[in-house]
Amino acid sequence: MTGRGRSFGRIADDYDRVRPGYPPDALRSVVGDLVVDVGAGTGKLTALLAASRRRVVAVEPDPTMRTVLAGRVGPGVEVVDGTAEHLPVASGTASAVVYGQSWHWADPQAAAAEARRVLVDDGVLLLLWNIPDVTVDWVQELNRLAGLPVGFPDLTPTELAGFSPGVVERVPWEQTLDASDLVRLFSTFSRVATREPDDRDRVLASIRAALTGCTVVAYPYVCVSVTYRREPRSRRAERRAR
Ligand SMILES: C[S@@+](CC[C@H](N)C(=O)[O-])C[C@H]1O[C@@H](n2cnc3c(N)ncnc32)[C@H](O)[C@@H]1O
Repeated sequence: MTGRGRSFGRIADDYDRVRPGYPPDALRSVVGDLVVDVGAGTGKLTALLAASRRRVVAVEPDPTMRTVLAGRVGPGVEVVDGTAEHLPVASGTASAVVYGQSWHWADPQAAAAEARRVLVDDGVLLLLWNIPDVTVDWVQELNRLAGLPVGFPDLTPTELAGFSPGVVERVPWEQTLDASDLVRLFSTFSRVATREPDDRDRVLASIRAALTGCTVVAYPYVCVSVTYRREPRSRRAERRAR
């Protein structure tokens, strides 16, 4: 895990309270029986996957996040310690490997090799990101106050050995939350959470001030998904993957 990738445990409860889930349409490509949710955090995506009655292995390296996760999931979900680069899952068993807001914390080539190992032929590797819709002026302004990017990140899919080219889809949606929870949401972004305490408090105060007079807020996102399919284990495909 990278430095900022390790920052989540100390804000696990706030994370679970205010981070968004995912729009169901973004999960359409997930089929089959066994889904591996990597960097599962407190289980925002895990819960949605489990609701469709699939067996889910939720992999999370941070012990505090894992404790919250284990407390919120029901039967059918196995919570395990592990990383994207070392998945504690048997080879050729998973129908889908999913990353909610966590692929960017992984070493992409090592994580792709692990996904390729655990997936069945034609299995799906799905990467999801909820990106605040910075085309909306006030959303962009809050990002500016927080020192966060004011443009959309470049999510052009990279080529992953042994997978078909990534297919990008965008699903616009909104999270409704109290203005105080929107301030708390910013406190869970790693670029804010890892600031020096005084600096972080100053940033959060400026966001609070910008929201003066608001009670409930519809915070707009674009959920960006990138779907890859594992090429079959034919000799030719394996040769291409090397
Ligand atoms: C932004 S959170 C996303 C949590 C959850 N998937 C969600 O949708 O809310 C990123 C998570 O990735 C985990 N993480 C960081 N580096 C990782 C790695 N190399 N392998 C797996 N998980 C990692 C962090 O501990 C954290 O829980």
